[in-house]
Amino acid sequence: MRTFHARTGRLGVQAKEAMRTLLPRYGIPMIAGPWQLPFPPDLPVVLEVGSGMGETTAQMAAADPGTGVVAVEVHTAGVAALLRRVAALGLDNVRVVHGDAVTVLRHMVPPESLAGVRLFFPDPWPKPRHHKRRFVRPDLVGLTADRLQPGGRFHAATDWSEYAHEMLTVLSAEPLLRNDYPGFAPRPDWRPLTRFERRGLRHGHRVQDLIFSRRVE
Ligand SMILES: C[S@@+](CC[C@H](N)C(=O)[O-])C[C@H]1O[C@@H](n2cnc3c(N)ncnc32)[C@H](O)[C@@H]1O
Repeated sequence: MRTFHARTGRLGVQAKEAMRTLLPRYGIPMIAGPWQLPFPPDLPVVLEVGSGMGETTAQMAAADPGTGVVAVEVHTAGVAALLRRVAALGLDNVRVVHGDAVTVLRHMVPPESLAGVRLFFPDPWPKPRHHKRRFVRPDLVGLTADRLQPGGRFHAATDWSEYAHEMLTVLSAEPLLRNDYPGFAPRPDWRPLTRFERRGLRHGHRVQDLIFSRRVE
């Protein structure tokens, strides 16, 4: 059950060039076993699910060089855009996986290894018959929580109100997680505004953040 839309469309010349020259440098290949990240062993690692065009990813990574960011995106044009930003800013703390974040979490990320997981403006799948495609659903939240270190944070943001409430319910029901706030989190000023967020705001949508941590036993 995929959480993303299949997309077609041609890549531009610059995007093709980025995939050819920058992916070998900043990419992590999809493999069947645990990944080996080229970061210092003590660097905390955050995984971003669906980095889109990578505006947030690049800005947050530039502002926090003490965190390693692995951005996972299926959409090739998005991967290429992020690679170009990473190269332009000379960011050593970002790596990009071109593939399905569910597969990455399942097969490549060791349990209790991540300092954080970010999920910003995930596809809302508004039709009820498509809700099963949403990333925030019990099985994937359980998988994500398992990959977080104790104290590691899951941070989601959405402008889709009904999905935000669903997230609150599903995340609150996950035994490994606890909410850092009494309900929705205040919008952190360190989360940059993306194209998707601006579009949501233009349509009069309210943006809601959720920040949960893995329980420390
Ligand atoms: C609505 S966009 C938001 C992009 C970005 N986070 C932002 O805030 O601008 C959602 C993105 O998630 C990606 N996506 C959805 N499911 C995914 C998955 N399982 N693995 C990787 N990417 C995924 C889609 O391709 C799309 O680019």
